Amino acid sequence: MGDDFERMWADLAPIGRSATSGGYYRQPFLGAETELRAWFVEQAHARDLEVETDGVGNVVAWWNPVGVDGEAPGVLTGSHLDSVLDGGAYDGPLGVVSAFAALDLLRSRGVAPQRRIGVSVFAEEEGSRFGLACLGSRLASGALSWAAAQELRDRDGVFLTDALASVGLAGPAGPAGLAGTDAGSVLDLSGVGTFVELHVEQGRDLVERGAAIGVASGIWPHGRYRFDFAGEANHAGTTRMEDRADPMLTYAMTALAANKQARLSAARATFGRIEVAPNGTNAVPSRVTAWMDARCASDGELSDLVAAVTRQGTERAGRDGTSLAVTAESVSASVAFDAALAVAIAADHAAGDWPVIPTQAGHDAGILSAAGIPTAMLFVRNPTGISHSPAESATVPDCLVGVSALADTLERLAR
Ligand code: GLV
Ligand code: MN
Ligand code: MN
Repeated sequence: MGDDFERMWADLAPIGRSATSGGYYRQPFLGAETELRAWFVEQAHARDLEVETDGVGNVVAWWNPVGVDGEAPGVLTGSHLDSVLDGGAYDGPLGVVSAFAALDLLRSRGVAPQRRIGVSVFAEEEGSRFGLACLGSRLASGALSWAAAQELRDRDGVFLTDALASVGLAGPAGPAGLAGTDAGSVLDLSGVGTFVELHVEQGRDLVERGAAIGVASGIWPHGRYRFDFAGEANHAGTTRMEDRADPMLTYAMTALAANKQARLSAARATFGRIEVAPNGTNAVPSRVTAWMDARCASDGELSDLVAAVTRQGTERAGRDGTSLAVTAESVSASVAFDAALAVAIAADHAAGDWPVIPTQAGHDAGILSAAGIPTAMLFVRNPTGISHSPAESATVPDCLVGVSALADTLERLAR
């Protein structure tokens, strides 16, 4: 089992890796991510799996051996192959590689599943290109309409439809889609009875508990909010400080307010992306656009946090002679995974129970769960606790415990 896992991991290691940082740039529908999806299809064919692709970049490889009940809902496992900008190796690919390795393990054990088992890859999970996380699973589950998706553009103004077309994908079929080509459809999840996603842990909870594996209880509610600060462009030398309407100041104070507010409520608030116009050293800017990522333990706390930051930013805009408009670009409500399934998975091994823990990170598993599919997540310990960074890590022995935990889970679910 270890050999299969390590061979696949070595195949993926160079794809999309930055020579300078060692991090990954695997943005959807561009070179590296397209290569990864081709690798996925190759791996599926090498295992005689049935490949199902759709028009938005989602792919599933089904193991459907003789003896499977064609009427029984299938078991789906997998994750994503795209990354954040300069991301780590594990966030996403670990779940996909582990899924193939788990199927190999089941076959080597001589397991004859009674339900089909699929390995899935959902497109644009990170939202690093089109701004909306879990794009592929939202479209497949109906959480996002194709009409709304068609409005999405990347930072260079490229529409999602054009990005899809550039790699031969035609969007979903249907009146609003580009029907009539082979690649026009969206994955049908109606035959999926359970979804299990294995993922690298994105914090230090498992390190602190001394556990190689954890099981997710749920996902914190979270959202992405665009803050548009408008002011007046002017000369950096000749404009007296008291005569300025500088949106950068309003932004700076708002970022500090977000940090303070999140600390006060044990929440998370991050401004990780900013655009400045005209972005010149010797001019007061006319506009600052900044994106806040906010996450809280409950839906009510999330609304309160965003309202408090918006109020403080708006008050400051009044003093700076600027203006602030806040737009919620996406908000994901809290997710509680199937509790019985989580407890069963946590207890399903020889060395005692694994911890059942919440996560502050978003996942396709959250989208499928919200769509009513019983869903579980397995986390593999991350020694650095760092994620969305080249420093993300997991040891091979822990990854192999993850593979075997996933195989045990799939074996039980496919009975
Ligand atoms: C995805 O990893 C997210 O939590 O933003
Ligand atoms: Mn991620
Ligand atoms: Mn992920």
